[in-house]
Amino acid sequence: MTDTVRETAGETEIPQFPGVRAAKCPFDPPPELRALQQNGTLAKVRLWNGSTPWFVTRHAAQKEVLSSPKVSADVTKPGYPIHTRAFGGGGLSFILKDDPEHARLRRMVQAAFTVRRVETMRPAIQRIVDDLIDQMLAGPKPVDLVEAFALPVPSLVICELLGVPYADHDFFQHNSKTIIKRTVTPEDRAVAFGRLHEYLDGLVAQKLDDPADDLLSKVAARVKDGELTREEAAQMGVLLLIAGHETTANMIALGTLALLQHPGQLALLRETDDPKLVASAVEELLRYLNITHSGRRRVAVEDIEIGGQVIRAGEGIIIPNDIGNRDPEVFPDPDRLDVRRDAHRHVAFGFGVHQCLGQSLARVELQVVYGTLYRRIPTLKAAVPIEEIPFKHDGQVYGVYELPVTW
Ligand code: HEM
Repeated sequence: MTDTVRETAGETEIPQFPGVRAAKCPFDPPPELRALQQNGTLAKVRLWNGSTPWFVTRHAAQKEVLSSPKVSADVTKPGYPIHTRAFGGGGLSFILKDDPEHARLRRMVQAAFTVRRVETMRPAIQRIVDDLIDQMLAGPKPVDLVEAFALPVPSLVICELLGVPYADHDFFQHNSKTIIKRTVTPEDRAVAFGRLHEYLDGLVAQKLDDPADDLLSKVAARVKDGELTREEAAQMGVLLLIAGHETTANMIALGTLALLQHPGQLALLRETDDPKLVASAVEELLRYLNITHSGRRRVAVEDIEIGGQVIRAGEGIIIPNDIGNRDPEVFPDPDRLDVRRDAHRHVAFGFGVHQCLGQSLARVELQVVYGTLYRRIPTLKAAVPIEEIPFKHDGQVYGVYELPVTW
């Protein structure tokens, strides 16, 4: 069930969308997609189900589409370019809804994710990171960095914030991974989704009876006030739990691998105590790696003109942020990883009303990780050749399944 891509004007068949990143540089978007970018702002692509949505190649046009009220993020609308047969249903709360419904739900939780609120969590995040590094240093090597560090950091943080017991991490990590796999069958995805939904619904019920100082208790209070249904509360919990750990975990492991492949850049981070340089490295790695490589997906609800071309109401639109983040008009020499560059205009967190709710949290987590891990383990290195590292080519979110490291 593989997507194929082809240009409108020509007939160049391109093997896969989302494409497999070339083995020679697994951090770069597929060259075929870059070729589309050189040819123009829009291209037509052909997906697994024969549909032919538009593909928006340039950074400026991507932002224009993502901030337009003329597009919808509702996966159930006809014309929406769904990833595979398994991704056709809704159920993931406000990420797949439009305003005003989207804004109503997002507003209920956004206070927990402001820059100021998240900054208060920095010392706790630092403690989590230091404890996990202590455990790694005390344990056997080589060790899988994903299992020992990259997954636990954001999972512990989001569990604490939401009020989800970390002891259940095997359960929710496994089901989250299934839900975002592009190769999952509709049946398996529905089972995993049902399990997580039931689990979050149980936690909401518990917080209704016995509230604590956590975000799920605040969500449960909205249920008590009649502002939110139990169903909506559980869906919101599922979204926050999945989005809160999978993405950041991939950035930690893939970011580390990218730095290990660029020793000069890694040395800059290892040797600095300047938080500005660490923050700049986080933005650059977000840009360079763009882990949400399946592209943002929308459907036009009104005619919209982009790059001199009218996209008609009802037509699907894919916004591949990975090539947007390699647009040479915005980022000179875009394929070079340069932790000192100003990368803040990247679109790795999306753009417009659906721009990542958890971006401040992700930034603090990554700043603490990148600012600590390589200083505390200065001789950190991959324990296997890069060819043996399993990449998530089949994931809706890109990363590595395992990263054996030693020091
Ligand atoms: C490096 C880590 C992360 C990356 C790269 C990332 C990326 C993204 C992107 C690209 C979107 C836009 C989706 C769209 O336009 O369709 C998004 C939305 C979202 N993200 Fe993140 N994310 C990260 C971390 C987090 C964290 C830690 C949370 C915490 C719960 C989170 C929660 C959300 C939520 C709730 C949305 C939906 C926002 C809305 O629809 O209004 N994300 N994220």
